[in-house]
Amino acid sequence: MMMNAASTSARRRLGLVLAAGKGTRMKSALPKVLHPVIGKPMLRRVLEQLIPLDLDEVFVVVGHQAEQVEQAMAQWSLPLKTRCVLQTEQHGTGHAVMQVLPYLPKDTPADVLITCGDMPLIPSQRYLALMDAYTKPRKGTSKVLLALATVHYKDPTGYGRVFWSAHEGVTRIVEHRDATDVEKTCHWGNTGIYAGDWPTIAGALDRIEPHNAQKEYYLTDIVQILHKEGLRIEAVQWPEELEVMGINSRQQLSEATSILSYMTAQRLMEGGVSIVQPQSSLLAPEVEVAADSTILPGCVLEGPITIGSNCEIGPNTTMRGPVTIGNHCRVVQAYLERSVTLKDHCYVGPYVHLRDNTEVGQTCRLGNFVEVKEATIGDRSNAAHLCYLGDVTVGDDVNMGAGSIVANYDPIRDLKHRSTIESGVKVGCNSVLVSPLTVGHHACVAAGSVVTKNVNPWELVISRAPMVQKEDWVKATQQTAAH
Ligand code: UD1
Ligand code: CA
Repeated sequence: MMMNAASTSARRRLGLVLAAGKGTRMKSALPKVLHPVIGKPMLRRVLEQLIPLDLDEVFVVVGHQAEQVEQAMAQWSLPLKTRCVLQTEQHGTGHAVMQVLPYLPKDTPADVLITCGDMPLIPSQRYLALMDAYTKPRKGTSKVLLALATVHYKDPTGYGRVFWSAHEGVTRIVEHRDATDVEKTCHWGNTGIYAGDWPTIAGALDRIEPHNAQKEYYLTDIVQILHKEGLRIEAVQWPEELEVMGINSRQQLSEATSILSYMTAQRLMEGGVSIVQPQSSLLAPEVEVAADSTILPGCVLEGPITIGSNCEIGPNTTMRGPVTIGNHCRVVQAYLERSVTLKDHCYVGPYVHLRDNTEVGQTCRLGNFVEVKEATIGDRSNAAHLCYLGDVTVGDDVNMGAGSIVANYDPIRDLKHRSTIESGVKVGCNSVLVSPLTVGHHACVAAGSVVTKNVNPWELVISRAPMVQKEDWVKATQQTAAH
């Protein structure tokens, strides 16, 4: 039999995400880890931060509504090899890690990072630093086989307390519920995030027992077991208490949302963006804004969004990415969703809905009360009032008059049709262009027309009842009525 020497001898680099907890306090039909934090499920945020760690595989321990979590993960198509592992009954964090053993035998040479699916605010550099602390220990200390992240909490209530010193490393962790009053005065809290050697962790798991207040298998107990064996466990201090918050309730979900948005606002302001009132907007970490742009109050910016320089966004504007906006644009009281691109110098709003694969050229004007979908619009074109442009390609220098509409939908056959409005076309107010059709370049559609056939270039079409004028009709009618 052929053996692949490289793959059998290489150490694997793995992630392990604990996400089987019930999330009872959320009081929700949705699994806790699928609740979104500014447009993205919290578990997805956790997994995305693991991407830069260059892991060979990530095991996600799931329990409650496992299928739903698994289905959601399949849809995210992350550049990360993930595998869900079922923990049918939740008997504690140690028990959760044990569920991986059938897929990862005890003696598999591997470096493992363990984290939680409900801590979406931890940035990848913290994980990288923890992995480094374990794989590249400081000179003069004995080989480190386990490192854990600890934070000095202002209020450590609820957290496991980490007892450690620079000399000895970590000696033990005591859960809040099991701690004595004296132990509770320790402010070093366990984040629940570890990096270590898999055979060492797995070997210690064999020996933990559920003799504690919750009758659970505590992962934290491996610390004391390994310390007693003479192993050094490194404590890595993380500076930021906010980053390691876990989400167990709607209150914490809202708190995490504010923190994430605040972090984004800080980053953007450092890059030269004015955010007039950060606390009134929701800004996802996936938002990029160039210098000298301004975000006015009341904006919700979710998902991948790129905004150029010298733009003014808001007030009260929602964008659900992907959205790309060029330089010198103004977007006022608008809703942009599912793939929208604006080139430079566009003025959009107020009250505009741009959605589903809409591309707008330079120096366009869209608003008030305009909806655009599945549309490509050239440069310098306007739809300045009360328009609907659906499934349409619009050229350069087109003017859509107030109240003009592209009627793309055939509700009888439930079909959508596409139309083309070529460059230089002027469409009069209150016209209906019934798709599918082409309006040739520089044609003119008279106000109030219903256009059902193709229009040739440079042509004028008038499709409405001719105006009738009856001289003195009102006077004559009133006189007849009086007799
Ligand atoms: C755990 C730590 C505690 C630490 C705290 C940080 C233990 C025993 N305690 O406590 O020291 O300060 O996290 O937040 O590890 N999970 C499973 N299966 C289970 C149990 C839990 O997958 O059977 C998952 C949960 O979904 C969650 C994570 O493990 O993502 C932590 O579990 P949780 O019950 O919140 O642990 P804590 O009691 O808060
Ligand atoms: Ca917890």
